[in-house]
Amino acid sequence: MTDELSKLNCEVRDTWNANADYWDERMAEGNSFHEILIKPAQLRLLGIEGGEEILDIACGNGQFSRTMSELGAKVLATDVSNKMIINAKARTPESYKDLDFQVLDAMDRSSLTRLGKARFDAAVCTMALFDMADITLLIEALPVLLKPKGKFVFSIIHPAFNSPPGMKMTQSNLTSRGRTERTYSLSIYRYRTPEKYKSVAMEGQPELQHVFHRSLSDIFNIFFDSGLVLDGIEEPLFEGKVEPTDAVGWFNFEDIPPVLVARMVYR
Ligand SMILES: C[S@@+](CC[C@H](N)C(=O)[O-])C[C@H]1O[C@@H](n2cnc3c(N)ncnc32)[C@H](O)[C@@H]1O
Repeated sequence: MTDELSKLNCEVRDTWNANADYWDERMAEGNSFHEILIKPAQLRLLGIEGGEEILDIACGNGQFSRTMSELGAKVLATDVSNKMIINAKARTPESYKDLDFQVLDAMDRSSLTRLGKARFDAAVCTMALFDMADITLLIEALPVLLKPKGKFVFSIIHPAFNSPPGMKMTQSNLTSRGRTERTYSLSIYRYRTPEKYKSVAMEGQPELQHVFHRSLSDIFNIFFDSGLVLDGIEEPLFEGKVEPTDAVGWFNFEDIPPVLVARMVYR
């Protein structure tokens, strides 16, 4: 890893440590993005039957790790932020017997591969690949960590539609013959070029965090180069499940997906 990537990775970790308590309070067991869009899609793609061993990479406060555990999976939940892991453990009742937490840097190849060769039936990374300064080391480690036919399910903010600073949401009031109609639109004006920017995951969080925009081809080609192929994909929509407000936000878009969820398998 270059010095620059290593420095960025430390900044990412320090920011998530600083934001961990705020994140935990507000995320709790999942916000509407998770409950309506991400969790159902990830669960469909994972198809947990019970008894599988699953690695959760960048688990945050462990909300999705607990969901997988409730379905009978044996889960190792990991995150680079020790504060996130402390909060995740504190939030997890003792009744979750097959759920363990560990501080682990997904950009550290040797820590990843030390977890065990062909150990996991599946790995998952919920809304975190864009938080990582580099995803190549993690993706290259997947064929080592996963059993043959093992799957990797991930969700990300949709790179084509939901990737500031290359997009803007606009609200307009169109008045015609005395009737006013409110419309919402997206303007996309940058996409293909990788970009690092600072953003907020939760309104009001103590520190801005780094976000790493990558185009779809940039992401999927890393998987393909490591022998993983795409065999499931979802672009979930709110579809009116949340009452739209006057504020411009994703709830107002009926047919544009804010997140992308995909399943990769080792061919
Ligand atoms: C947006 S949060 C998502 C947390 C959780 N997966 C969820 O959806 O609730 C991003 C998480 O990625 C973690 N993260 C960032 N870089 C990481 C790395 N190199 N290795 C492991 N975790 C990392 C952060 O600490 C943070 O918990």
